[in-house]
Amino acid sequence: MSDSLEAIQQAALAEIAGAQDSRALEQLRVQYLGRKGRVTEQLKQLGAMEPEARKAFGDRVNKVKALVGAAIENRADTLAQAELAARLAGETIDVTLPGRGEGVGGLHPLTRSLQRIERLFNELGFETMQGPEIEDDFHNFGALNIPELHPARAMQDTFYVDDGARVLRTHTSPVQIRTMRAVVESGAEPPIRIICPGRVYRCDSDRTHSPMFHQVEGLYVAENVHFTDLKYDLQTFLSRFFETEVKALFRPSYFPFVEPGADVHMWWQDPTRGTGRWLELLGCGMVHPKVFEAVGIDPEKYTGYAFGMGVERLTMLRYGVDDLRLFFNNDLRFLRQFA
Ligand code: PHE
Repeated sequence: MSDSLEAIQQAALAEIAGAQDSRALEQLRVQYLGRKGRVTEQLKQLGAMEPEARKAFGDRVNKVKALVGAAIENRADTLAQAELAARLAGETIDVTLPGRGEGVGGLHPLTRSLQRIERLFNELGFETMQGPEIEDDFHNFGALNIPELHPARAMQDTFYVDDGARVLRTHTSPVQIRTMRAVVESGAEPPIRIICPGRVYRCDSDRTHSPMFHQVEGLYVAENVHFTDLKYDLQTFLSRFFETEVKALFRPSYFPFVEPGADVHMWWQDPTRGTGRWLELLGCGMVHPKVFEAVGIDPEKYTGYAFGMGVERLTMLRYGVDDLRLFFNNDLRFLRQFA
C-alpha cells in the first residue's frame, strides 16, 4: 500500500516538474487531486483498515495530497512567470532601431506648373476665373462660332454626357463666354483680363495625348487691343516661364472663334545634341466679332485677344519629360523627382 502511495507521489512530482504550460498542469491537478484522482482514490482503502492503521494511512495520504498541491502551486507560479516573460519579450520595441522615415509629399508637377502659370499671369494683371467641366453646347461650341455640323467640331473628339445635350468641355474657351456674359449681364463694361486654368477632355490617348488634360485660357478685351499686345504678353509670359529669352514664332492658324488666328511655336534647343526645332505650344488670336455678338459686347467698340495653352506640353518642355502618360501613372519614382 505505502509503496503505491510512494510511487504515486514520485510520479506526480516528476510530472508536475515536467508540465510545460498551465493547461497541462491543470490536467495533472485533476488527475491526482480531483474527486477521482489517483491520490483521492487512495482514501477509499481507509474503510477496510483497522482504526490505527487507518489514522496513520490517512495522515500519509493527506501529506501526499498537501505535497502534490504545493508542487502544483509552485509549478503554476513558475509557468506564469515564464509565460509573462515570453510575452514581454515578444512585445519588446527596440527603440534603438533606425526609423523608417516619413517621406514628405510634394506637389504634382502639373499642379506646380498650373500654380506657376497662374502666378505669372496674375503678375501681368490677369484675374483667375473658373468654369464648369460639364458644359452645354452653347458655351463649348455655339457661342464660340462653332455651329452645329461645323467641321471644327470633328477636330475636337468630344465626350458627350447624358443624351448628348451636354459635353465634357473640350477646351477652356467656354470660360471666355461665361466671363463676358457675366460682365454684360451685370451691366459692367470691359476691360476684361482673365485667365482660366482647368481640366479639359478629348477622346484621344497616346504618347502625346491624354483623354483628360489641362489648359490655361487667356482673354483680354478692351478698347484698342491689338495683335501686338497678344505677342508681347505671350512673349513675356513664355520667357518668364522658361526663365530664358524664348524664341517664339507666330504661325497663321484657324480657330472659328478668333480672326486672325495663330499657333505659337517656340524654338527648342536639344541640350544634348546641339540641334533644335520649333515646337507648337498654344493657339491664339483676336476675338472673332461673332463671339462678341454672341455675348452682347459691341465689336465696333471693343477688340480682344484670346489664347489657350496646354499645361502638359509646357510642363514636358520645362522639365524635359518626353512621355505625357508619366503625369498620370502615379509612379512615385517619377513624381518624387519634382518634390
Ligand atoms: N481653344 C483652343 C483649343 O483648345 C485654343 C485657343 C484658345 C485658340 C483661344 C485660340 C484662342 O484648341
